[in-house]
Amino acid sequence: MRLGPYELTSNLFLSPLAGYTNLPMRLTVRELGGLGWATTDLVNARSLIERNRVALKLVATAPGDQPFAIQLFGSVPEEMRDAAVICQELGVQSVDINMGCPVKKVVKIGGGSAMMTELDKTAALVRGMIAAVKIPVTAKMRLGWDDDNLTAPDLARVLEDAGVAAIFVHGRTRAQGFSGTVNVAGIRSVVQAVRRIPVIGNGDITTPAAARHMINETGCAGVSIGRGAFYDPWIFRRTDHFLRTGELLPEPTFSERVAVMRRHYERYLEFYGEEHGSRLFRKVAPWYAKRFGPAKPFKHRIITIKSRADFEAALVEYLGWRAQFCDAHGTLLEKFSPAPMVASFMREPGSPEERMSIPVPKGPVDVW
Ligand SMILES: Cc1cc2nc3c(=O)[nH]c(=O)nc-3n(C[C@H](O)[C@H](O)[C@H](O)COP(=O)(O)O)c2cc1C
Repeated sequence: MRLGPYELTSNLFLSPLAGYTNLPMRLTVRELGGLGWATTDLVNARSLIERNRVALKLVATAPGDQPFAIQLFGSVPEEMRDAAVICQELGVQSVDINMGCPVKKVVKIGGGSAMMTELDKTAALVRGMIAAVKIPVTAKMRLGWDDDNLTAPDLARVLEDAGVAAIFVHGRTRAQGFSGTVNVAGIRSVVQAVRRIPVIGNGDITTPAAARHMINETGCAGVSIGRGAFYDPWIFRRTDHFLRTGELLPEPTFSERVAVMRRHYERYLEFYGEEHGSRLFRKVAPWYAKRFGPAKPFKHRIITIKSRADFEAALVEYLGWRAQFCDAHGTLLEKFSPAPMVASFMREPGSPEERMSIPVPKGPVDVW
């Protein structure tokens, strides 16, 4: 697919995940293949202008981390414009605007003509950014405030007219948070609202089949995957292969999962230093462990690590403990294998999966 002037190698995107989609994660996922485009965590426009240390860390990149977009967050038009210029100077391929929940303030006071004013204000901010840079500008939004206020199609149309190059839409409302089912029809209405630009569907894609379902049901040009990549950094390679050939590649083995987790960890140490990197990795490793089969002691121990030695010791101890659930060849016995993932929008009513949901780390849902 195309995004602005770029021809992407796949139509699969890594969703911004604040606290996770840093350089170490992006490099780890890219190395496994299938990913067409990645976006940074959201970056506060003013902090970037002030060259705040945390903001600079968020936008850090390296050879092999292309194409990528920086996601900006802010509501002051001049700041968003100046921050977009900085992004361009940094050499990124694109700037994404975090719209969290579209036009929240206005929806709260009843919509109507006031809502068009808010849309006009948003469009003016976006036009200011687009006029200031040569790289494409994209926008990421939810479906709206709640089911009675699905404002994303209107917003998408206005943004297309303002010149954005693509729309990313998470198929839930602000009121939903991360609960309930992704609204596939809601995403379709955004696809239908725009004329030329690609819409990228997002939400709960944890399997290649879910990606295909979302594309088929909504007509979206591509899909963006967030938490699904926590469990499974291979999801892009497996999904890309499935979309191209219809063949489902096997899930990674346990030893592949451990090897990739270790590479991800080593990149954390390189990027953040040994102690800080180890502390930060405490929230990453448990996601890998969700697909290990029985892993309780590992999950307990890994959240205490302060060094590489702690990490390795936690792993060695775990490998010993896990052997009791394996056959003579070290393969996990079937009865201990984790259940297959099923996306919210593909669950049968009344099925055991119906009430399962992907965990959400604590954070500001307003801007996610
Ligand atoms: C921990 C976490 C952090 C997130 N951070 C951001 C963010 O910085 N910017 C953004 O636009 N969305 C953010 N999101 C929303 C995701 O990009 C995505 O829209 C949402 O998680 C649904 O997709 P998924 O089911 O594939 O995870 C975040 C979500 C989570 C769970």
